[in-house]
Amino acid sequence: MFAIAIDGPAGAGKSTIAKDVSKRLGYIYVDTGALYRAVGLHMLRRGITAAEPERVEAELKNIDVTIHFQDGNQLVLLNEEDVSGLIRTPEVSMAASTFSALPSVREFLFDLQQELAAHNNVVMDGRDIGTVVLPKAQVKIFLTASPEERARRRFKDLEEAGKAISYEEVLKDVKERDYNDSHRAVSPLLPAADAVHFDNTGYTLEQSVEKILALVRAKDV
Ligand code: DC
Repeated sequence: MFAIAIDGPAGAGKSTIAKDVSKRLGYIYVDTGALYRAVGLHMLRRGITAAEPERVEAELKNIDVTIHFQDGNQLVLLNEEDVSGLIRTPEVSMAASTFSALPSVREFLFDLQQELAAHNNVVMDGRDIGTVVLPKAQVKIFLTASPEERARRRFKDLEEAGKAISYEEVLKDVKERDYNDSHRAVSPLLPAADAVHFDNTGYTLEQSVEKILALVRAKDV
């Protein structure tokens, strides 16, 4: 199996680029952030906070998170409910970020991610794919862009989805999540030692995709 791991901060363009790369190669695309979002949504619904790790751990026993693919798009099922749309809100983004700092949550999602890569050629994006989940991935990319550029992209997406939020709020969220994701004790957002660093500020989607495909080709597949 061949694995391409793409890690980086929120809004770096990971999912758009990874989806395109996966299509071009005929691999499956796994958006691991969506799995953390599903867990975050479940905890929000139950009124459980990340400040209560024992309750979180106990509640994980009641959660079944799986993914399905429909026309190449990933659907996330939370206890068989399709929550793919519901997990794309600022509240769930923040919940995913805070709950993902808990070791029990990371362990809970670890096997599912490894299983997917054991049976499929994958492009997997997240925060700790190259470092923890798929340390043997053939291609590892650490994708970044400036916070302002990332906030602009996210703002545009949310605006298009009809969500009422200001650019300033999005930028604040981006910076807060960056801080959370890179300062947590377990699996912080860090580039793998053998990752290729790619800052795509000012790149078009096509240019970013080409750059990653070139890295894959260099591996002789
Ligand atoms: O990529 P995203 O914005 O959908 O991710 C949501 C949150 O989930 C993010 O703030 C950090 C967390 N996450 C993680 O800790 N590890 C991953 N592999 C993917 C996401």
